[in-house]
Amino acid sequence: MTLAALNSPVDLNEPQLSIIGQQRLDGELHVNGAKNSALVLMAASVLSRGSIRIQNMPDLTDIGTMAKILISLGVGFRLGGSSAVLTGNGLTRHDPSYDLTRKLRASFFLIGPLLARHGVAKVPLPGGCRIGSRPVREHNKGLQAMGARISIEGGMVSAEVVGNHGRLQGCSIHLDCPSVGATETLMMAATLAEGETVLHNVAQEPEVVDLAGLLKAMGARIHGAGSSTISISGVKELHGADYAVIPDRIEAGTFLIAAAATRSQLHVTPVVPDHLGAVLAKLEELGCGISPQGQGLTITPGQLRGCELRTQPFPGFPTDLQAPFMALLTTVQGDSFITETIFENRLQHVAELQRMGAQIRTRGNVAILEGVPMLSGAPVAGTDLRATAAMVVAGLAADGVTHVAGLKHLDRGYTRLEERLQAVGARISRIGATQSALLAA
Ligand code: EPZ
Repeated sequence: MTLAALNSPVDLNEPQLSIIGQQRLDGELHVNGAKNSALVLMAASVLSRGSIRIQNMPDLTDIGTMAKILISLGVGFRLGGSSAVLTGNGLTRHDPSYDLTRKLRASFFLIGPLLARHGVAKVPLPGGCRIGSRPVREHNKGLQAMGARISIEGGMVSAEVVGNHGRLQGCSIHLDCPSVGATETLMMAATLAEGETVLHNVAQEPEVVDLAGLLKAMGARIHGAGSSTISISGVKELHGADYAVIPDRIEAGTFLIAAAATRSQLHVTPVVPDHLGAVLAKLEELGCGISPQGQGLTITPGQLRGCELRTQPFPGFPTDLQAPFMALLTTVQGDSFITETIFENRLQHVAELQRMGAQIRTRGNVAILEGVPMLSGAPVAGTDLRATAAMVVAGLAADGVTHVAGLKHLDRGYTRLEERLQAVGARISRIGATQSALLAA
């Protein structure tokens, strides 16, 4: 047992991925439906008495948890392959159980739809996580502007529409920051509010546009999703719909980054190039070739050189790919600079990459990297979903064996990642329990 392994944060009793690095990848990786869209689309089922069928659902633990929360409220949930049918007419409760919601920050998405449908909601305050404090100020401020009285007590957010016969009232709302969750929460709430709502300085992420797509299919009147201003004209009721989740741009980006890190040619499909513009541009700046092929992209390795990277709200470089991209940059010749501007504590993977021999210094939210010829395999642990994905990327590129712990994070965002990487030649296996499938979480 090496010294590094002796003082590794890895709990040898928990499941891990064992990776023998330096293996070229070859072939095609399929991209699943987007986790950060599917979760909010599921929450939108509360807005209608009808049934919504959501196709291209990813099989992830977070999806299973959201399904259990919705079922506990009385929403009907039926799963068939990668399609789920959610029926809101049985909605009887407005206060999902703490035990379930505390496992899933995204359960806070329910406050807007519950207020819009029933005029009352009681959900746990999401609280912070490893990457930051994750406040929901903008969500609450917007709902209050629409007529909800909100109190926070004992970690619970209790909301109730006062006046206007218990119906939210449309209004003009300026977000202090383009929060994805706040934009989605207020857009959903506004669909059933009385009159016009105009949301300014909103998030423009593809997942916001995807939610608007579902809501419009349900009969909502929404304009401007994908721009900085969204207008919604409230309607009395929303009906059922049939909708498909967009491909997961963060999963696609992770695969492209893994290909670049192992200097492999790989086909990743499906991909919506516009959803990954900043990432594709940065990979090309690094020296990779990216070419469209069918519904996806093919990446080819080139002579890579260091770059500067700054995470930004969409259409800027996504914060969710900052950690995987840093793993790639550790073995790219020359200096690189990464600035994380979205979350206040999203550089925790630096320590784990240093354990593998990466040369990284940090100054506040800036990481300064000096490319090394090769990382060395080691026992490492991911501290959040994307940091764990970064450690997998590093393990694939490293010389020797890497054990990656933190799979409870990884399984929230990547379905059976090791099986899919094995299929394109990676020497990777899961030691310990297998990944729990949907609803088994
Ligand atoms: C969504 O989180 C995603 N999660 C995150 O993905 C993603 O990193 C994030 O958007 C940014 O793109 C889901 O969609 C389920 P935000 P969200 O509100 O909505 C600050 C992953 O790995 N802020 O846009 O919680 C906040 O502190 C996850 O898949 C306020 O200051 O993100 C943060 O610094 C991680 N006040 C920044 O905005 C507020 O009221 C972005 O937060 C709200 C947010």
